Amino acid sequence: MNAVLITGGTGKTGGALTGLLRERGVPVRVASRTPAAGDPDAVRFDWADPATHAAALRGTDRVYLVPPVSTLDPLPLVEPFLAAADRLGVRRVVLLASALVFPGSDGALELAERVRARPGGVVLRASGFMQNFLAPHPMGERILRHGEIRTASGTGRVGWIDARDIAAAAAAVLTAPEDAPHGRTDGRSGERTDDRSDHLLTGPAALSYRDAAEILTRHTGRTVRVVPVEPGELAATYRAAGLPDVFAASLAAVDANLRAGRDDLVSTAVLDLTGRPPRTFAEFLRDHTAR
Ligand SMILES: NC(=O)c1ccc[n+]([C@@H]2O[C@H](COP(=O)([O-])OP(=O)(O)OC[C@H]3O[C@@H](n4cnc5c(N)ncnc54)[C@H](OP(=O)(O)O)[C@@H]3O)[C@@H](O)[C@H]2O)c1
Repeated sequence: MNAVLITGGTGKTGGALTGLLRERGVPVRVASRTPAAGDPDAVRFDWADPATHAAALRGTDRVYLVPPVSTLDPLPLVEPFLAAADRLGVRRVVLLASALVFPGSDGALELAERVRARPGGVVLRASGFMQNFLAPHPMGERILRHGEIRTASGTGRVGWIDARDIAAAAAAVLTAPEDAPHGRTDGRSGERTDDRSDHLLTGPAALSYRDAAEILTRHTGRTVRVVPVEPGELAATYRAAGLPDVFAASLAAVDANLRAGRDDLVSTAVLDLTGRPPRTFAEFLRDHTAR
């Protein structure tokens, strides 16, 4: 059996996906810039170094694609990779994209369009990660150090999703039979429940930051408060946390969309694809109490 190449293989979704595919006996290749010395499946892969692409792809026929992080235009780095994937006979590419619209990220939208247009291409548009509430994400760091969440999103809500549920959805799509590449087959009726090449992945409920802070306070016993700020101030916070200027500004501008209710979305895709409901925010917190 050919392997699945997992880019971002040591990250939040890639790491969980690696575990799920191994449990199912699917061979994996775990790609990152810093391959673990003791892992025989680990392979050095750097988006910025095309010489590493073909070597990572060889012997694989499916790819989980986590685009280069902290950039609004991943296309220049991902295009040569997709060309190499075509040459080497990759049949399925599953892209991790964002459901939240980042102002100025036309390149990311174009990448999603290209993956959707490929035979066997699937785009997973993930909502905000629950893991953002944990360090080392800048928001998680701030909660840990100052007990506060700074946001310009007002009462806008997000369908927060646990990264482990994104991994579960990706595992389902990557291991679906060839003739049903985009969805789960319903065990009872034999009908496909979803045959699109695009899935909006969310948690079970949309929560504002204020809702999330209340749940955090209840579960940790430590008060977490929400501090309303302007987008400019938020961008400065992200810059101070080390994000590149343009990316920090775009990330802060996402809050304006949230405020307008544009990302107040909840889907059934995790349940449809995996047969299990996505984790609630309270379940996520219970699993990460120590952090
Ligand atoms: N956070 C959110 O709310 C949210 C919502 C929707 C979508 N997303 C998307 O999720 C993606 C991040 O996924 P994740 O959270 O699973 O990953 P992650 O935990 O941020 O980890 C990043 C992974 O990519 C690897 N990596 C970083 N730079 C690389 C490079 N230049 N070349 C090759 N590999 C590199 C890292 O390993 P090394 O550092 O060892 O290379 C690591 O395995 C981003 O594209 C983001 O836009 C995030």
